[in-house]
Amino acid sequence: MSKGIVLFGAPGAGKGTLADKIKKILPVVHVSTGDLLRENVRGGTEVGKKAKEFMDQGKLVPDEMVIAMVKERISKDDVKKNGFMLDGFPRTVEQAQALDKVAKIDAVVVIDIKKEDLRKRILGRRSCTKCGKIYNIYNEKLMPKKAGFCDADGTALMQRDDDNEVTFEKRWNTYIGQSDAVINYYSKKPGMVRHVDGTRTMEMSEQELKKVLG
Ligand code: AP5
Ligand code: MG
Repeated sequence: MSKGIVLFGAPGAGKGTLADKIKKILPVVHVSTGDLLRENVRGGTEVGKKAKEFMDQGKLVPDEMVIAMVKERISKDDVKKNGFMLDGFPRTVEQAQALDKVAKIDAVVVIDIKKEDLRKRILGRRSCTKCGKIYNIYNEKLMPKKAGFCDADGTALMQRDDDNEVTFEKRWNTYIGQSDAVINYYSKKPGMVRHVDGTRTMEMSEQELKKVLG
C-alpha cells in the first residue's frame, strides 16, 4: 500500500538529504514545499512573488498559500499511485489539520538536532538547480567532486538566498515557535511520531530506515 510520510525538522536538519536516501528504498514521491516555493520564485509566478517576501525574512509563507500548493501536488496521479513523502510540510497545526482532511499519514519522522550543529550545514550548503542534489562544502563526505559543479549532471551549484547567518537565526526562531505544537498534534496518535538522530542520518542503514518508516 502507498505511504504518507512527513519529514519534520529544523532548517538544515537534513530533511532533503534524508528524503533522497528514502527515495532509494521506497517508491514515494518527494514533495518539498521549500523546493516548490523556490521554483515559483524562479519562475516569477504570483505565488513566488508573494512567497519570496516571507522566505527572505525567514518567516512562514501564509498557511492558505502553502496548503493550496500541497493539495494540488498530492492530488496528482504519481502521488495517488506511489504515495508521498512531505518535506517541510506541515509546519503549523493549521497545515496539519488541513492535510488530515485530504490524506492519510503513516509516519512523522522528526529529525532531532542541536542548533550549534546547524550553522555550518546552512552556510556550507550548495545545491544543483537542475536535479536538486544537495552538497556541503564544509563536509568531505558531502562535497562535490569538482568544486562548484554537480556530480550528477555538471550543472553549476547555487547557494540559497536564505542560507546566511541573519536569515538562519530567523528561520530557527520560526521553527522553535511552531515545532512543539506540530509534534504534540501528531503525538496524540500512538506510534505516529518517530525520532531520528540528525547527526547520523547519513550513516543510517536501509534496515534502520525501514524500521523507522514501519
Ligand atoms: P525549506 O526549503 O523547507 O527550508 P528549511 O526548513 O529551512 O530546511 P532546509 O531545506 O534549509 O534544510 P533541510 O532540513 O532540507 O536540510 P538539507 O538536507 O538541505 O523552506 C524554506 C522557506 O520556505 C521557509 O523558511 C519558509 O519561508 C517557506 N516554507 C517552506 N515550507 C513551508 C510551509 N510548510 N509553511 C510555510 N512556509 C514554508 O541539509 C542541509 C545541509 O546539511 C546540506 O548541506 C547537507 O549536505 C548537510 N547535511 C544533511 N544531513 C547531514 C548529516 N547527517 N550530517 C552532516 N551534514 C548533513
Ligand atoms: Mg530542504
